[in-house]
Amino acid sequence: MQTVGKGWDAAAIWERTLKKVSLMNAAIGGKSPHVAREDGKYDDLRIDWWTSGFWPGILWIAYDMTGEERYKDAAWSWDERMEQHMLRPNSFDHDVGFQFLPTAVIKHRLTGDEDGERRGLFAANFLAGRFNLNGKFIRAWNSDMHGWSIIDTAMNLSLLYWASQRSGDPRFGQIATAHADTVLRHFIREDGSVRHIVCFDPNTGLFDEALGGQGYAPDSGWSRGTAWALYGMANTFRYTADRAYLRAAQRVAHYFLASLPEDSVPHWDFRSAEQLEGEPRDSSAGAIAASGLLELAELLPAKEGAVYRRAAERILQSLHDNYATWDDDGSEALLLHGTGHKPAGQNVDVSLIYGDYFFIEAIAKLNGWKHRIF
Ligand code: GLY
Repeated sequence: MQTVGKGWDAAAIWERTLKKVSLMNAAIGGKSPHVAREDGKYDDLRIDWWTSGFWPGILWIAYDMTGEERYKDAAWSWDERMEQHMLRPNSFDHDVGFQFLPTAVIKHRLTGDEDGERRGLFAANFLAGRFNLNGKFIRAWNSDMHGWSIIDTAMNLSLLYWASQRSGDPRFGQIATAHADTVLRHFIREDGSVRHIVCFDPNTGLFDEALGGQGYAPDSGWSRGTAWALYGMANTFRYTADRAYLRAAQRVAHYFLASLPEDSVPHWDFRSAEQLEGEPRDSSAGAIAASGLLELAELLPAKEGAVYRRAAERILQSLHDNYATWDDDGSEALLLHGTGHKPAGQNVDVSLIYGDYFFIEAIAKLNGWKHRIF
């Protein structure tokens, strides 16, 4: 087990992380990675799968932090590949935020590339088109799930706020804020825990039922969903300055932090069983929450924010010390022990590219990275 000692040396951890990203770049090549198992090799998934933006997002962060062209070169074509795929039969859904923010939008922000801006706006129009007027929610998935909304969408709202800023058209932001209000009303519970799926009647917009989804049960606390809510509501406050979202982000953060086990890395669900001992962890939930907590810290006065920053550092240090592949140069992944979808028995105790992304994003933030992707 690696340790970095008692002190937090963010610069040293960034250097170590960058060395790993360099190895990943050589090994991953043009693959669209999602999951790596025991052999440490990432798979290569369809480009319309919701995770396809995270690897190029890592490359753009590495480029922004170092100015090294090799990272930009490796990241450059991803938004074009996605756009091409959008013009064919595909399964893009509400997660276009996860896909186009770390590709087209950050590319435009860092390089001024007009195609990146155009593709980002195209994706924002697609996302806005999923809004249900009566229910005031953005529809999550495709097929016949017309009235299904999920907490993960909170993270995709940044694409809409960005589109309003770029285009001057307030409709995108209005839709994002209407959805965020639905998150406050129907997803975040009084105690700060969060529902995964809420189903509405797609015609009347009335609440129908809550489902457990990737969590243990409808009334449980899926840890990654909790992290999406924390980070998504902090972002919504940044864009709107409405303190209702800040209070919600804090409430969720307190629930998340109070539910952590001793080593600060969450189990996959905070209420999955009477006895959490032995249940799988989800390192990705820890990484997402840590990056969201850093966002929250930035949005608050220094003294209040410091509490969240220290909590983020505790999670990151534990991930660094106990959940990473530093000693395994053959591994294409960074974090171990992620859980994708436990109830479906899919991707349990694996490396997940979004866990890697949010760990790297958080370490970059601790080292002064200011160009936000989400
Ligand atoms: N967006 C799906 C997940 O968090 O697994």
